[in-house]
Amino acid sequence: MRAFEFPDVEEDEIGRLGDDLSALGERFEAALASVDDGDALDALRLTFLGRNGEITALRRSIGTLPAAERPEAGKTINEAVARLEAQLERASSALTNRELAAQLDVAIDVTFPAPPARTGSIHPLRRTLEDACDYFQRRGFAVVLGDEIETEYYNFDALNIPADHPAREGFDTFYLANGKLLRPHTSPTQIRTMQQHPPPIAIVNPGKAYRRDAVDARHSYMFSQIEGLLVAPGIHLGHLKGMLTGLCRELFGPNQAVRFRPSFFPFTEPSAEVDTTCPGCGGSGKRGDAGCKTCGGSGWIEIGGSGMVHPDVLRECNYDPERVSGWAFGLGVERIAMVRYDVDDLRVFFENDPAVLAQLA
Ligand code: DAH
Repeated sequence: MRAFEFPDVEEDEIGRLGDDLSALGERFEAALASVDDGDALDALRLTFLGRNGEITALRRSIGTLPAAERPEAGKTINEAVARLEAQLERASSALTNRELAAQLDVAIDVTFPAPPARTGSIHPLRRTLEDACDYFQRRGFAVVLGDEIETEYYNFDALNIPADHPAREGFDTFYLANGKLLRPHTSPTQIRTMQQHPPPIAIVNPGKAYRRDAVDARHSYMFSQIEGLLVAPGIHLGHLKGMLTGLCRELFGPNQAVRFRPSFFPFTEPSAEVDTTCPGCGGSGKRGDAGCKTCGGSGWIEIGGSGMVHPDVLRECNYDPERVSGWAFGLGVERIAMVRYDVDDLRVFFENDPAVLAQLA
């Protein structure tokens, strides 16, 4: 009599799973062979490996197996998944390579004109400052750079503007938490230079200044000035007028004139506002039949302030007002550049649109 044989359940179930998987593998390979782009590849991945894909269905069926067989079944499925993924990976990089090769295959026409190379240009404000400095350097002036953060002493007191002086209000100064300030004009550099060097002195000082101004076509919280200072025995206002006339001719053209309008600055006596012939209309105040827009019809444009250095300022720097005298000026660089480049809004200088800058170059 034949002994009873237990049916080999384990072999059967796992064997069937193996058959299912290899059939699945064959269908997968057949489908993969006809994939020719990334979208089709993604679709294939979903069909077999996606959340509702065939492999997931097989994994769910593991639950129906006797507990002892589940680990083995799981392992078999994991191995199959790894094989499919490796094949997908290979197919994906083959596709990428094919696309790259196709791109390279396009004939390159080496005679095709290249896009024009864009050259940079000097910014109009810098160009104006450089031209002005250059004019003074050729006349023996030194260019001195001051600090943008200053103390009340250099910015006000030493310039004859004591703490209770109403002129302080006019400067709309930004004060810093440490008691210092953002200089509202370049004039403190006059004091620093004179306190470091005995007379004679001849400097120009270009740089930025800051004021609590709202931004519009003519104002900004940050702007540029160029300061000039000449102190020596016998210096008088005529020297200043001659020097500024030469500067305006260099910046605007050979027919420029300069006029002084009486004004007030605590650090100069007498003081004057500086106007030069409007380059927009040549001083006539008219452009064609209309009034000149640049100067508003007056024929003059204002470019800054100036005067003879106040004796108190000289004394503060240990200069003897009986022996030396001097002139000083402070010009608004944006104002000069607006007229020079015929720009009616100074924001153009700060927005730095490359197309606009290229036009002004
Ligand atoms: N610091 C003056 C300002 O910003 C301009 C100025 C006027 C400067 C007269 C000078 C000067 O050196 O002498 O309004």
